[in-house]
Amino acid sequence: MTTAAYPVSAALTVNNLDAFYGKCQVTFDAQLHVGRGEIVALLGRNGAGKTTTLMAIAGFVTARRGKVLLAGNEIATAPAFRRVRAGLSLVPSGSRSLGSLTVLENLQTSAGVSARNGQWSIDKVFGLFPKLRQLAGSQGRQLSGGERQMLAVGRALLSQPEVLMLDEPSEGLAPLVVAELGGMLRRLADAGLAVLLTEQNHGLALDIADRVLFMEKGQIAWEGSASEAKDPEVLGRYLSV
Ligand SMILES: Nc1ncnc2c1ncn2[C@@H]1O[C@H](COP(=O)(O)OP(=O)(O)O)[C@@H](O)[C@H]1O
Ligand SMILES: [Mg+2]
Repeated sequence: MTTAAYPVSAALTVNNLDAFYGKCQVTFDAQLHVGRGEIVALLGRNGAGKTTTLMAIAGFVTARRGKVLLAGNEIATAPAFRRVRAGLSLVPSGSRSLGSLTVLENLQTSAGVSARNGQWSIDKVFGLFPKLRQLAGSQGRQLSGGERQMLAVGRALLSQPEVLMLDEPSEGLAPLVVAELGGMLRRLADAGLAVLLTEQNHGLALDIADRVLFMEKGQIAWEGSASEAKDPEVLGRYLSV
């Protein structure tokens, strides 16, 4: 396992994270960091603990041990909504949005959540996703998978995150939409956002990520650059079933 020195600009640092469902321990001593402007992909087989890691960082799953530092501030014991207010947003898998509300209402609901001042407004989200502007009056449940994912990302951005986590953002999306989403995440990172994502679509993750972490049995077993991660031997070791 290679370990990069933690950049001073780390937006998110996670140390020694042990996450549990009840008595069942799922992550063991998980360690990672994401710098501003960086996309880090957390990959691994089904059941490796990727979703649990994101959920524990976001505060939805219990961590019995470990540090979660957001821009240097410890948030590991804060309730989930405070972590959002502090600048940490999670887009869960399945792109949930409020199906009975319109696109605009969904965005308005999220815009009210953050106490932080930030660059994101509903208008700016519409600028990022012009399709959503056209659909402003449509109900969430009428959207396609790709449109729903854009809405979910838009809602997350309105909480003014410094760190954006996405659990399998490409799940169920058509290839063209996946490419569009990937390009959009890359642009957000290039503008300074720290992005941590999991993916079953390894092609997408390896294309857009700066660094890759492979998880195995609840532990981060390998860390390296995206180009190192493309090595067939590495991919075979951590992804093949
Ligand atoms: N709600 C839950 N309660 C108990 N165990 C769970 C729950 N969700 C996931 N697990 C278990 O935690 C382990 C890791 O799951 P998960 O984090 O979803 O993996 P991944 O996202 O890498 O596929 C698996 O063994 C899974 O069965
Ligand atoms: Mg998962």
